[in-house]
Amino acid sequence: MLEAIQETADWLRARTSLRPRVAVVLGTGLGRLAREIDVADSFAYADVPHFPVSTVEGHQGRLIFGHLGGRPVMALEGRFHYYEGYSMREVTFPVRVMHALGVDTLFVSNAAGGANPEFRVGDLMLITDHINLLPEHPLRGKNLPVGPRFPDMSEAYDRGLLAQARAIAAERGIRVREGIYLATQGPTYETPAEYRMFRLLGADAVGMSTVPEVIVARHSGMRVLGISVITNCGVAEDAVEVSHAEVQRAADAVQPLMADIFRTLIARLEK
Ligand code: HPA
Repeated sequence: MLEAIQETADWLRARTSLRPRVAVVLGTGLGRLAREIDVADSFAYADVPHFPVSTVEGHQGRLIFGHLGGRPVMALEGRFHYYEGYSMREVTFPVRVMHALGVDTLFVSNAAGGANPEFRVGDLMLITDHINLLPEHPLRGKNLPVGPRFPDMSEAYDRGLLAQARAIAAERGIRVREGIYLATQGPTYETPAEYRMFRLLGADAVGMSTVPEVIVARHSGMRVLGISVITNCGVAEDAVEVSHAEVQRAADAVQPLMADIFRTLIARLEK
């Protein structure tokens, strides 16, 4: 595993002169932020050694190196989901590579269903914490010596970055919600009863990604900021049918606001 990570990191280092300390993972329907990146080098996942290949509609599957907010960044345009059949090791491999390349700050985004009855389609939610209900843990197995066997998770989402994101949203007049993201394996969306259960468990938003990447990032000491785009609402009284196309449309509409927060925050990170 470490060898594969090193090989991929070496392969990339030989092909880009950028040495970003910031990385961004773009979720379903949120790839447009990639267009705001001043791209220096980009690699199709299929060409990157040891990288799995993304299959889901709406995911481009490109690894991008460029500048955003005047800073070098690395971006994953399209992520790997557990429901696609990838192992947790594959799902989180890109984050391992980011760490090997020197990334210490990770921005993650996703599309999610709203479990909080106050939430509306098109809301942005700063992720304050998560609940991991995925059936396999990304750190299961021999511990990689980039972090402890039993990593602390008391601050999975960095409080400092959250405060900065909150401040930027306020300055810009962008309304943001805050809450807990619950990860389930999918690929079905939830039944109304499942939404009710997840709400009882404390979830504000429900999705099929992000948590494995965040756990692996925290394992290696990276700080993390996460934003969910609420693309549908699962509260029983207003439960409506949901389709992938709708999820993408809703995500599409708020992409610029999310991009604004990420870009401004990246520009303000300490050098
Ligand atoms: N549930 C799970 N994942 C999702 C949803 C949802 O309602 N919407 C977008 N991703």
